[in-house]
Amino acid sequence: MSAASVCLRVTDLAVAYGHIEAVKGISLELQAGEITALVGANGAGKSTTLLALSGLLKATRGTIEFEGEDLSRLAPNQIVQRGVVQVPEGRAILTTLSVLENLQLGAYSRKDPSGMASSLEEIFHLLPRLKDRATQFAGNLSGGEQQMLAIGRALMARPKLLLLDEPSMGLAPILVQEIFRTLVAINQGGLSVLLVEQNVRQALKIARHGFVIETGRIVLADTGARLLADPRVEAAYLGG
Ligand SMILES: Nc1ncnc2c1ncn2[C@@H]1O[C@H](COP(=O)(O)OP(=O)(O)O)[C@@H](O)[C@H]1O
Ligand SMILES: [Mg+2]
Repeated sequence: MSAASVCLRVTDLAVAYGHIEAVKGISLELQAGEITALVGANGAGKSTTLLALSGLLKATRGTIEFEGEDLSRLAPNQIVQRGVVQVPEGRAILTTLSVLENLQLGAYSRKDPSGMASSLEEIFHLLPRLKDRATQFAGNLSGGEQQMLAIGRALMARPKLLLLDEPSMGLAPILVQEIFRTLVAINQGGLSVLLVEQNVRQALKIARHGFVIETGRIVLADTGARLLADPRVEAAYLGG
């Protein structure tokens, strides 16, 4: 791994809820332009990690460097402006607003309102179902479409690094495939992706590199392909 292509470097990150340390000093590096997976069981500390990267939780220890800049002192909106944008767990779309209005909200932190129209066009190209449903209430979308909308909304902020918290959650396998194909297409445009998943097999299939987290610690780090073939991953996460 060449140091020049690292976009995010997390070093000894710890995050606590009160006295309970949920993330216990993790270190990871993300290569620019890659899909990286952070996988692990329920309660392992995946969401806590993402919330710290987004500035929504403060680290008790460690550093988070994005493109060489320390993010840990920045407010969440400043982190979005640097290009680190999260698709939250559970999608968090606004059901009483239209699809288009939800997308427009994603651009709130942008300083180039004139660029919004072309972003919208790109997103409709990538996610054509959103275009068909642009004027409908977001609440009327299916679960898969709502996840697409959450991704589209994050793209409206023009991220350099997209953070996703379990985008496959609650979706039928065919929709999971569709979401993951979309992530591959987004990544092919050059965007770096950090994909948090309990769907370990599917996530590692599309990830160049992956990290396995257990009770707040990184226990394995390798290429996605090697992790998929690792008997420890097989035994713990793939029903082997
Ligand atoms: N708001 C909270 N207050 C207290 N403990 C929490 C809170 N959120 C998560 N935790 C605990 O932190 C640990 C990690 O949780 P989380 O990061 O949500 O895991 P994951 O996303 O991998 O399922 C778990 O033990 C969980 O119970
Ligand atoms: Mg979670």
